[in-house]
Amino acid sequence: MCGIVGYIGKRQAAPILLEGLKKLEYRGYDSAGLAVRAEGGGVSVVKTKGRLSRLCEETADGARLAGTCGIGHTRWATHGEPSEENAHPHKCMDGSVTVVHNGILENYRELREKLTRKGYVFYSQTDTEVIADLIDYYFKKYRSGPVDAIARFMSRARGSYALAVLFSGYEDIYVARKDSPMIIGAGRGEHFIASDVPAILKYTKRVFYIDNGELARVGREDVAFFNIDREPVEKQSVKVTLDENAAEKGGYEHFMIKEIHEQPSTVELTLNAYLSGGAVDFSECNVDDGFLRADAIVVVACGSAYHAGMTLQYVAERLARIPVRVELASEFRYRDPILAKNTLVVAISQSGETADTLAAVREAKARGARTLAVVNVRGSSIAREADRTLYTFAGPEIAVATTKAYSAQLVAGYLLSLEWGRLAGRLTAAQIAEYVAELRTLPQKIKDILEHKEDIQKFAAEHATASDVFMIGRGVDYTVCLEGALKLKEVSYIHTEAYAAGELKHGTISLIEEGTVVFGVMTQGGVLEKTASNLEETRSRGAYTVTLSFAGEKIAADAEVALTVPRTDELFAASLAVIPLQLLGYYMSLQRGLDVDKPRNLAKSVTVE
Ligand code: AGP
Repeated sequence: MCGIVGYIGKRQAAPILLEGLKKLEYRGYDSAGLAVRAEGGGVSVVKTKGRLSRLCEETADGARLAGTCGIGHTRWATHGEPSEENAHPHKCMDGSVTVVHNGILENYRELREKLTRKGYVFYSQTDTEVIADLIDYYFKKYRSGPVDAIARFMSRARGSYALAVLFSGYEDIYVARKDSPMIIGAGRGEHFIASDVPAILKYTKRVFYIDNGELARVGREDVAFFNIDREPVEKQSVKVTLDENAAEKGGYEHFMIKEIHEQPSTVELTLNAYLSGGAVDFSECNVDDGFLRADAIVVVACGSAYHAGMTLQYVAERLARIPVRVELASEFRYRDPILAKNTLVVAISQSGETADTLAAVREAKARGARTLAVVNVRGSSIAREADRTLYTFAGPEIAVATTKAYSAQLVAGYLLSLEWGRLAGRLTAAQIAEYVAELRTLPQKIKDILEHKEDIQKFAAEHATASDVFMIGRGVDYTVCLEGALKLKEVSYIHTEAYAAGELKHGTISLIEEGTVVFGVMTQGGVLEKTASNLEETRSRGAYTVTLSFAGEKIAADAEVALTVPRTDELFAASLAVIPLQLLGYYMSLQRGLDVDKPRNLAKSVTVE
């Protein structure tokens, strides 16, 4: 949430900052701003409410802000409504300190009161203005320079922050980080600052990862890192392997539809990374049998990653007969969880920066559990803090609604389940090879579904005015409903409920009325007829019903529409059944004239609680 960029070098900063912010706009998009230091002069700030395009207009694509050093921000509001006043950058009272911030300063009220007593006056409702003033306060009080002032702020601050700061009279940019992402890109005679790698890929692939609790002085020619005690920290830059074009739309109208179409390759790449012949091989990630062998698995995750965890639970318990518990990371972290001896905690996250999931990893470690991250973004906080990391191979995912990263998480879950099955002595090498062969068919089957996407487009055109949709299923199908319903809600704003089919009549069925659209996801043989009956029950109360099943399956339920996906092993059905539901979300959103890649109120990476 919130995107930060910075530039210092020989080129004009503003166009580079705007370019970077465009790549980060998925992190927040209610307001944006730039601060640029004029050659040998002061820092000029321009801020606009609304999308980044307004800031581009206001600055004539950066041409109105001359200078070779600057910082920028795209905001997802936490404290204070989206407005020009609350947009970043924020200046301290006398204008000598300018700050952009991603995160939440939890004790900002107390600090604001302290500063008010010292005579500071505030113009915004943000916690970030408090940061600017507090740094200014320490800077003037101790006169020991920017690093010292920021370190003192860090000692007083509670919460999360990635900060980029300009000081009057100092040429360089100063940055600090705690629990919010930030990287520094290294070029020749120039440096870049960004919340996420895609923002700077056009300029450099060499990055420094700044660790939690560290700060840095970023100059044209060099970067100096410090810990909170102001002691120098040695760091080497690393080369990132991401392709710059991977974060472009590549001819598609939106990132979401591009990413939906990338799923065959995402699934294939993730399989290729961890399959060797007919067996699973995690050796590249240093995940060996000793690490994986566990008496219990606890999965922690949020949103779609939680849904991928739910699927993992059904698959792993079936294949390995090990107890798997799936918990919302935001609940896990505060509920004093019980972790039995030899529990492996698996944290699933696309961004690797989700605050609750990161906190859950820390909680699990503090309780002595081993932690395994399933993460998409290389070098992200969760990847670095977990004991081991299995990377997924989705590449940069820009649309706020996840599709391809979720698909890659499903694959990681299947592979882990096969390994746990082998370790538990429940799967022979031959059985595993059969499952692997089936997994290898998934990319082509996803392609086949995508070739018929017009069926979903047509359905969306006919039902775009629906006000309530229900999705019911059992077992793995229920987990698909959870994800399908989230897609529809987040991008089309249609109220959608996912329900375990057997649970519907315990209350929710009272919401079914004439014309309510109900999807029955039915790929699980053992419970097909049960779900079919539940769907019938809604139909006889006026629902407009849609079945989603394997092609060729006989479904014992009449329905207005029958959607199918190619047959696969039931355990892997989520990978196919979810595709039509992702397309449904996408096309419904288009039909309703919404901003599909940037739905209201959301942000891609949720780095606040
Ligand atoms: C799903 O479309 C959402 N973007 C959201 O639920 C997301 O899955 C959740 O915020 C978790 O994010 P993470 O995978 O980056 O941790």
